[in-house]
Amino acid sequence: MKNFIDNLAVNALCSMTERRSVRAFLPQPVTPQTLHELLALARFAPSGANLQPGSFVQVQGEVRESLSHALVQAWTNGQAEAEDYDYFPKPMPMTLRRRQVAAAQALYGALGVARDDRAGRDAQFERNFRFFDAPVALVVTLEHGFGSGGYMDLGMTLYGLMLAAQAKGLATCAIGAMASYPSLIRQHLGLDEGSVIVCGMALGYADLDAPVNQTRTERSSLDTYFKVVG
Ligand SMILES: Cc1cc2nc3c(=O)[nH]c(=O)nc-3n(C[C@H](O)[C@H](O)[C@H](O)COP(=O)(O)O)c2cc1C
Repeated sequence: MKNFIDNLAVNALCSMTERRSVRAFLPQPVTPQTLHELLALARFAPSGANLQPGSFVQVQGEVRESLSHALVQAWTNGQAEAEDYDYFPKPMPMTLRRRQVAAAQALYGALGVARDDRAGRDAQFERNFRFFDAPVALVVTLEHGFGSGGYMDLGMTLYGLMLAAQAKGLATCAIGAMASYPSLIRQHLGLDEGSVIVCGMALGYADLDAPVNQTRTERSSLDTYFKVVG
């Protein structure tokens, strides 16, 4: 029994250290049963007063096609929409900006896309709106009216989903880019204003050979986010 529990703990830790955002997938489908199991595991996440905020909408078939088409069109045409919520600090402090640039360099470096290659960068960015061609495309929503706490709770569920997927041999990428077009997404999914569009999520089996999946990001050192007082 102790060995079993130790193995479980090792597996959980491996999921945390091995998980990374995956942006190219094998065509291998994900069964509804597997997806339902991952979602159920993710819902074990804690939440304030156990409100369990947030929902997942799986988008498939013609709706997915037309949604992706409309998102790409809107983005290509430089169409701007009011977002449902703010994500990044404005202005972005220099320490955070450096991390953002490093993440972009890791991504475009893995793809061999140079800093001044606008077309190369755009081609990759457009793939956000196609859910990176993952077999499973999810739109993540939050009930209207939640403050920051609701986003915090939903974030735990999202990470739970990522770790559950990783533990079961699948991979994910959250797609914040989707939050740029909340009205368009609501319109295509038949949602009303009560659903805040938080992000998209691509899920499936990783194409481990794809250059984009060689992207490696780093984390800042302990002293940048931890201190002892008293
Ligand atoms: C809420 C959220 C939104 C994200 N949005 C995008 C996105 O729109 N496009 C993208 O390529 N990656 C996106 N990412 C992935 C991040 O870039 C990635 O998590 C970060 O660079 C750290 O890398 P890692 O996930 O491989 O550890 C998002 C991640 C999170 C958590």
